[in-house]
Amino acid sequence: MRKQVTLKDGSKAIIRSLTEADLDKSFAFFQKLPPEDRMYLRVNVGDIDVVKKRLKTADFMNVKRIAAIVDDEIVGDAALELRPYGWTRHLAEFRLIVADAYKRLGLGMILAGELYEMAVKEGVEEMIIELMAPQENAKKIFERLGFKIGATLKDYVKDSKGQKQDMLIMRCNLNDIWDKIEAYHEEFHIQTSYKHEIS
Ligand SMILES: CC(C)(COP(=O)(O)OP(=O)(O)OC[C@H]1O[C@@H](n2cnc3c(N)ncnc32)[C@H](O)[C@@H]1OP(=O)(O)O)[C@@H](O)C(=O)NCCC(=O)NCCS
Repeated sequence: MRKQVTLKDGSKAIIRSLTEADLDKSFAFFQKLPPEDRMYLRVNVGDIDVVKKRLKTADFMNVKRIAAIVDDEIVGDAALELRPYGWTRHLAEFRLIVADAYKRLGLGMILAGELYEMAVKEGVEEMIIELMAPQENAKKIFERLGFKIGATLKDYVKDSKGQKQDMLIMRCNLNDIWDKIEAYHEEFHIQTSYKHEIS
């Protein structure tokens, strides 16, 4: 998969799969994130071995990773985490991270759109998101996509400073997401496709 997309400011980005060969780019991306974004990530992305494992175990863990690239640098990282076995086999989770300089340009929505397409192909019925309560920006974009808080688990997770935080589980039927993404894209790029396949 390799697509060129146009962001709200007219700049272009490539969206493609993230592979083990992207280790250095991926590590550089995480190092540039502001502390308030890194604080709530699930793993310690300050450790290159953790970032390496994240890329290496993606297939084994049923995770599909994609990246947004500008000038050969990663500016967005997104994942569809599938749960193909057991009670939760109809569910999948979205994860999205956008570089500070590229926030509010529609990149999060574009990445969500790509994950949505992947989820449809995988036969997913419902999407969920797990967030720490202070992740306000994340809550906003997922609310915009139609997600609603399904449960709050008090003091359930620890942030990177070791502070306990409430964990929010947001959920949304897959069918309800596309209309929201399409409406958003039309709002800032009326009548023309915001993306096209490239080789
Ligand atoms: C959450 C995140 C991915 C959003 O990415 P983004 O590229 O800035 O999002 P978009 O530009 O596509 O925003 C789409 C809409 O979401 C909402 N939104 C996103 N960020 C927002 C913010 N900071 N405040 C209010 N609304 C926001 C808005 O409705 C926005 O539309 P608008 O800009 O036209 O008003 C980004 O802020 C981020 O990487 N945060 C840190 C990591 C994180 O918390 N990830 C989520 C855990 S999975």
